[in-house]
Amino acid sequence: MSTVSRYVFRLGLRLAVLSASALFLISAPLYYVFSNDVGVSLLFGISIGLISFIAVYFCSYYLMFSRLSGIQKVVAATPRTSISFSDSKSSGSNDELDRILELSKESKKLVRDHFRNMDETDHYRKEFIGDISHELKTPIFSVQGYLETLSQGALDDPKVNKLFLTKAMNNVDRLISLTNDLMEITKIETGELKPELQIIALNNIINDVIDSLNYKAEQAQITIRFQPKEVNSFAFADRNQIRQVLINLVENAIKYNKPEGRIYIGTTIEKSDPEHVLVSVKDTGIGIEPENLKRVTERFYRVDKSRSRDQGGTGLGLAIVKHILESHNSQLQIKSKPGSGSQFSFKLKLADHYSDHISA
Ligand SMILES: Nc1ncnc2c1ncn2[C@@H]1O[C@H](COP(=O)(O)OP(=O)(O)OP(=O)(O)O)[C@@H](O)[C@H]1O
Ligand SMILES: [Mg+2]
Repeated sequence: MSTVSRYVFRLGLRLAVLSASALFLISAPLYYVFSNDVGVSLLFGISIGLISFIAVYFCSYYLMFSRLSGIQKVVAATPRTSISFSDSKSSGSNDELDRILELSKESKKLVRDHFRNMDETDHYRKEFIGDISHELKTPIFSVQGYLETLSQGALDDPKVNKLFLTKAMNNVDRLISLTNDLMEITKIETGELKPELQIIALNNIINDVIDSLNYKAEQAQITIRFQPKEVNSFAFADRNQIRQVLINLVENAIKYNKPEGRIYIGTTIEKSDPEHVLVSVKDTGIGIEPENLKRVTERFYRVDKSRSRDQGGTGLGLAIVKHILESHNSQLQIKSKPGSGSQFSFKLKLADHYSDHISA
């Protein structure tokens, strides 16, 4: 016998005994008043008591059993298991038992959703920590290797000591940029880094970004061209974050380009969407295969790991771009043709009518 059957059996028995005794105690003396016969009155009282016992027992069993067993099923199911609520229906009478049954279903759903979120976060955390440790290991072991070789005598060899020190320094630089990117992405993903929306002069920011990256581009024999269709567009966005988006996109356009390659940066206000400005960064580089297009904005995803690593990349740049744009209610659009080049674009809300308050 299940716990619920036993419980209902005992409860039903108690109710039935109580009501049978009460009816016996009332009906026997009442009947005695009419019949004046103790034996007949006792028999009458016992019969009434027996009938009420059976009736009350079966009624309580019928009214409570299915709902109590429903409550038991809901409560007993562990929060991680899914349970079908179809076999724990309420009676529809909306009494206390129905309410308890509904409440236990609601709490069960809440706890189950909470556990699901916890499982997802836990999975995400483990994956993130795994990726980070993997990414940290490579430069740390390289630095260790160069320093060991130097300490074992290479320091006295003028041909190699400068080269090894430079290589060790490059790996340290990579560690610094990795930790900076990690801090940035953690802040963005946890919602700590909220955009400070202000009116920004987009062309000025683009020119700043070009100035700061021109040296890198020239070293790689790449030309950057800014082709604004607008005289100047004022967007409503976070200046530093949009600067970071542009830096990441232009850096990629330099890194994944070919010698003598070109980068075109453009701003357009489309007739079909006059409230937004479309910013695009187009390159004539190596391009991205269609199967990799969807994945390039994932954390640590790199199409060609060794090429990206050689360039000091960690695969966080586009993930940061995606998060920043999402926090501006915008999306990164990518078009690419392997071997010919790629175009990364996004829209920002225009703030032309606020142009009195320009801050950049
Ligand atoms: N303009 C581009 N042309 C071709 N491939 C690109 C371009 N931009 C990004 N990719 C590919 O997408 C991957 C992810 O880019 P992302 O900017 O996130 O990382 P990264 O450049 O490797 O490193 P990080 O930006 O963190 O220094 C790159 O490794 C590269 O394979
Ligand atoms: Mg990058």
